Amino acid sequence: MRLIVTENYEEMSYSAAQETAKFIKENPELVLGLSTGGTPLGTYQELIKLHENENLDFSKITTFNLDEYIGLEPKHPQSYTRYTWDNFLSKVNIQKQNVHIPPGIFKDEKQVLKEYDEKILEVNGIDVQILGVGGNGHIGFNEPNQFLHPNTHITNLTDETIKDNSRFFLNIDEVPKQAVAMGVGSILRAKHIIFIASGDEKAEAVRKTFNEKITTHCPSSLLQLHANLTVILDKKAARLLN
Ligand code: F6R
Repeated sequence: MRLIVTENYEEMSYSAAQETAKFIKENPELVLGLSTGGTPLGTYQELIKLHENENLDFSKITTFNLDEYIGLEPKHPQSYTRYTWDNFLSKVNIQKQNVHIPPGIFKDEKQVLKEYDEKILEVNGIDVQILGVGGNGHIGFNEPNQFLHPNTHITNLTDETIKDNSRFFLNIDEVPKQAVAMGVGSILRAKHIIFIASGDEKAEAVRKTFNEKITTHCPSSLLQLHANLTVILDKKAARLLN
C-alpha cells in the first residue's frame, strides 16, 4: 500500500486526479470505476481541468459506477447517474456507450444485477477504482454486515448512511432506503484502487480500515488484502492512523 497524506481536501483531490491521469495516459482504454458522494467531487474537477488544459483523453475510457439509489429516475437531482454526468462525464470527451451506471428503476431485478456483472466481466474487470469510504466503513454501499456480497446486489442502506447522505436531500425521508451496489468481489478484483478520504469525520473509519483486524463489519478493512492500493488522505482523515 502506498500512503499519501496531503494538507487538505484540495491537495487530496489534486493528488487523486494526478494518480488517475497517470493510469489513463499509460492505458488510454482504461476501465475506470467511479465513486460518488462528496469526497470525489474535487478529484473529478481536477480531471476535467486536465482534460481541458492538457488534453487528457477519455474517448476510449470505459466507466463503471459503484452504485445507484433504488427508486430515483436518472434525471433526479440526487441520482448518481445525474451526479456522475453533471459533475464529471458531461465535461470530458467520454463516449456515452462506454458509461455504465446501474439503473435505479427497473422491473427485472435479477436481470439488472446479472447484466451489470456481465458487463464488468466483458471488459475483464475494473482497472482502476476510485473509492471513497462511509463513516461506518462501507465501500460502494457494501454496508457492514455478517456477510458481504461478491457481486452486484440490492443493499439496504443503514440508518447511519441514510443520515449521512440526508445532507444531499431536502429531508431525511427523501433518502432512498436501498441501492444497487457493485459487490466487494468486483471492487477487490480492481487491478488498482485509489482510496480517498478527507476530514475529521472520516478519521475513525480510516483507522478501522487500516489499523484494525479485517472484518465484514467494516467492509473497507478488506482493502488491507489488496496488492495495489494507493491511499490518499488529507491530514484530518489520517490523524488517527498509526
Ligand atoms: C458512493 C459510494 C459510497 C461513498 C461513501 C462516502 O458511490 O461508493 O461508498 O463513497 O458513502 O461518501 P462521501 O464521499 O459523501 O462521504
